[in-house]
Amino acid sequence: MLQQTVFLLALVAQGLTLENGLLRTPPMGWLAWERFRCNIHCDEDPKNCISERLFMEMADRLAQDGWRDLGYVYLNIDDCWIGGRDDKGRLVPDSKRFPRGIAFLADYAHSLGLKLGIYEDMGNMTCMGFPGTTLDTVELDAQTFAGWKVDMLKMDGCFSTSEERAQGYPKMSAALNATGRPIAFSCSWPAYEGGLPPKVNYTLLANICNLWRNYDDIQDSWNSVLSILDWFVKHQDILQPLAGPGHWNDPDMLLIGNFGLSFEESRSQMALWTMLAAPLFMSTDLRTITPQNMDILQNPLMIKINQDPLGIQGRRIYEDEYQIEVYKRPLTNEASALVFFSRRTDMPYHFHTSLAKLNFPRAKVYDAQNIFSGEIISGLWSENNFTVVINPSGVVMWYLNPVKNMDISETMYQL
Ligand code: GLA
Repeated sequence: MLQQTVFLLALVAQGLTLENGLLRTPPMGWLAWERFRCNIHCDEDPKNCISERLFMEMADRLAQDGWRDLGYVYLNIDDCWIGGRDDKGRLVPDSKRFPRGIAFLADYAHSLGLKLGIYEDMGNMTCMGFPGTTLDTVELDAQTFAGWKVDMLKMDGCFSTSEERAQGYPKMSAALNATGRPIAFSCSWPAYEGGLPPKVNYTLLANICNLWRNYDDIQDSWNSVLSILDWFVKHQDILQPLAGPGHWNDPDMLLIGNFGLSFEESRSQMALWTMLAAPLFMSTDLRTITPQNMDILQNPLMIKINQDPLGIQGRRIYEDEYQIEVYKRPLTNEASALVFFSRRTDMPYHFHTSLAKLNFPRAKVYDAQNIFSGEIISGLWSENNFTVVINPSGVVMWYLNPVKNMDISETMYQL
């Protein structure tokens, strides 16, 4: 009897938790939506419409221009790929725009060392009005995606009720598990419920999803970046502890390379998203991206920090009346990252502080490496005053490594 109960409990647990072992660090890759939206006009705009060609060309760029080797391995389809359902009820892609099907695209991605992500919606229709996954098609759709060898599913939440979503997301998670194929699961569920407890049950989400959109869609503007940042910081006491290996908050895509951000703003989004342990999904035209924007997105130390194996999300630890903010993210080996961020719109600001003033432990010594300039300040004591010059809407970002562990009494003893 006991044995039977244990067995049953194990089965229930298996059905409810996402034990796919995926995304131990935030996912990195390319996602079509922010830049290419629902452009289905291939006759008029063959290069940029949502089609097999667009994904193959982005796959080529990911593989050939250094992205894949830095970790940007996901090539993710978003809305507007679906053509309908076949006579067995299985999803099929639009046959004009994806003539060789999704399995072909997955094979193509895999042949280049990439992974393919796809999009569906837990509801009657996707947000752009294409056929959705309803409660009765969850299993079939999971099997279809696994059959195509898809590696990630973004499940949106348009055109459904709260009750349907509450049933549908756990059901899809279990159905993905049951396929036996490791498929990372990105859930937009919280964004449709206001993003906060008690309405959102993040304990459940961490068990069934690898990442989740908490808040509104990003748009191609600095205002949009700030509104998302503001919301995440306002609720950081709730959101910060949720992130960890296998389960991440998702403040949405990177805008870098598009039209809305200046150079400083682009660096700021990259730095702030890294502090938030956010997924790094670019959504830009990799065929025409400038070397300057590539540098921002391909900064190796930035990526190392984003991908830190501890997976601890950072927090804003300081703000003042001069519109200066400081963010800190703890990293492995007692290292940490600091971002000094200016919301000012006048001129470069000279910010005077010390690590002790930022609540670092006293009497420690650090090496500070500037993420963008590469410059290293060696032997910085917690008590040493220093000045960082932060451009308007810009950041200074440091990687801090402790070099000695002497407290003052030890120093005196040695003297
Ligand atoms: C929602 C999502 C976006 C995108 C669109 C597609 O708005 O939040 O990220 O997937 O749907 O229609």
